[in-house]
Amino acid sequence: MHKTPPDQTSHANPASARRVGLVGFGTVGRAVARILGERNGADSLLRLTHICNRNFERKKQPWVTEPWFPGDIVWTEDFHAILNSDVDIIVELIGGLTPAEELVRGALNAGKSVVTANKQLIARHGPDLLQLASANGCQLEFGASVAGGVPVLPALRTGLSGDRLHGLAGILNGTCNYILSRIETDRIPFSEALEEAQARGYAEADASEDLDGGDARAKLSILALAGLHVRVSPGDIRARTIRPIDAVDFDYAAELGCTIRQISRADLKEATLFADVGPSLVPASSPFGRVQRNLNLVLTSGEYGGDMAFLGAGAGGDPTAVAVVSDLMFVAERLAAGGPSTGSRPNRPLQLASPRVSCDFETPWYLRFLVKDQPGIIASLAAILSAHQLNIDAVLQNPGFDKNALPFVITLEPCRDAQLHPALQEMSALPFALKPCLCLPILR
Ligand SMILES: NC(=O)c1ccc[n+]([C@@H]2O[C@H](COP(=O)([O-])OP(=O)(O)OC[C@H]3O[C@@H](n4cnc5c(N)ncnc54)[C@H](OP(=O)(O)O)[C@@H]3O)[C@@H](O)[C@H]2O)c1
Repeated sequence: MHKTPPDQTSHANPASARRVGLVGFGTVGRAVARILGERNGADSLLRLTHICNRNFERKKQPWVTEPWFPGDIVWTEDFHAILNSDVDIIVELIGGLTPAEELVRGALNAGKSVVTANKQLIARHGPDLLQLASANGCQLEFGASVAGGVPVLPALRTGLSGDRLHGLAGILNGTCNYILSRIETDRIPFSEALEEAQARGYAEADASEDLDGGDARAKLSILALAGLHVRVSPGDIRARTIRPIDAVDFDYAAELGCTIRQISRADLKEATLFADVGPSLVPASSPFGRVQRNLNLVLTSGEYGGDMAFLGAGAGGDPTAVAVVSDLMFVAERLAAGGPSTGSRPNRPLQLASPRVSCDFETPWYLRFLVKDQPGIIASLAAILSAHQLNIDAVLQNPGFDKNALPFVITLEPCRDAQLHPALQEMSALPFALKPCLCLPILR
C-alpha cells in the first residue's frame, strides 16, 4: 500500500528540473507517475509534465486529483504530442515493438533522452538504439527491462564496469520459477502449478513465451549486451521448454542433492558466446536452488571481482517503477552535470563484439526416461551411450511406479551437448520409450 505522500502542494520544482513525458499509464506507468508525484518537491531533479495513454480518461486514478499530484499535467492520447513538446526525457512504458520503436527512435532523433522498461524493444534493437542515442548526444536507459526491480543492469553499467565480465547466469523468469518451485514444494503436477500461477496473475493465459524460454532469452541477450558488450539476437540463443518437467524429476533431482530451475546463462570464451536458456539441475543449497516463487536472481562472474549476486522482485508495478525512476534520476543527474543533453555533443561510440553463438556447453547431464518396462532396457541404452563415447555416472530407479509407465534416470559424466545429441535421438526412438528422453544439464 502507498504511504500518504508528504505535503508538497507547492510543486516548487526549480526551473532546472528536467521535464518528463510518460507514455503508457498502465501497471508500471501509474506506479512511476505516483512516485514522481510524491517526490515532486523543491529539490526534485524531475518534473512530470506530460502523460500519454490511448483513451486516457478511463485510466486515470483517483489520486491524480490529490493536491500532491501536479495539477498542470498535460494529458494526451497521441505520443507525437509528447515528441513535439518541450520534455527533456521520455519514459516509454507501452511495451511491445509497435509503436514503441517509433516513439523511442523519434525521441532520440529529437535529442530527447529515453527511459524504457521494454525488453522486447531492447533485445531486438538495443545496440542500434544505443548508437542512435550516442549519435544524438542523449541517453537511453533500460534498467527495468531485465529483472524488474533488481538493479542488475545499473550495476553492470556502473558498479561492475571496472571489471571484465565473462559470465552471466540468472533466474530471469518469475513465472517459470513460480511453477517449478511450486512443483518442488508440493510435488503437484506441472498442469496444476501452471493453473495456479495463472489464477494468481503470475502467468498469462497463453504463457508460451515464459514456459518455452522466449522471455528469458530476450532478457539474457540484454544482459549480454550490457555486461559482456556483445550483440546477440535472442533468436540465436537456444531456449528449452519447462513443460516436460514433472514432480518425479524433483524426486530424482533431490537424490542427487539438486533441484530444478529455469536457468539462463551466457559465457564469453574468446570469440564464442556460449548461451542457453532452459530447465537445469542446480544444487539445492546453491543460490539458484534457494530462489523460491517469482523472485529473480542474477549472478555475474568477472575476471577481477569474481562472482556477484543480485536478488529481488523481478516484476510488479512498484518494484519496476523504482528501477524506472532510478534511471530517470541517473539521466537527470548526468544532464545536470553537463552530460549529453540537447543533441549537441555525441557520446563515446559503443564498442560491441558480435561473437559466434553456441549452446555446446560441456556439463554433466540428467537423462530421465519414461518406458514400458521390459528386460534389457538398461543394456540397450548403455550400448548407445558407449557407442557415442559417453560415460554413465549413475542409474536411479525408485520402486513403486507402474511398470507400463516407468520413469528412471541415468546421469552422465561431463560431455559436450553436441556429443550427446545424436545419442539422445537414438535412445528416444527405441521401441520401449513412451516419450522422448528428458535431458537437463547439471550445473554444479
Ligand atoms: N508489469 C511488470 O511487472 C513489468 C516488469 C518489468 C518490465 N515491464 C515492462 O514495462 C512495460 C509496461 O508494462 P505494464 O505492465 O505497465 O503494461 P500495461 O499495464 O499493459 O500498460 C501499458 C499501457 O500502455 C498503453 N498503451 C499501449 N499502446 C499505446 C499506444 N499506442 N498509445 C498510448 N498508450 C498505449 C496501454 O493502454 P491500454 O489500457 O489501452 O492497453 C496501457 O495503459 C512493458 O514493456 C513491460 O514489458 C513490466
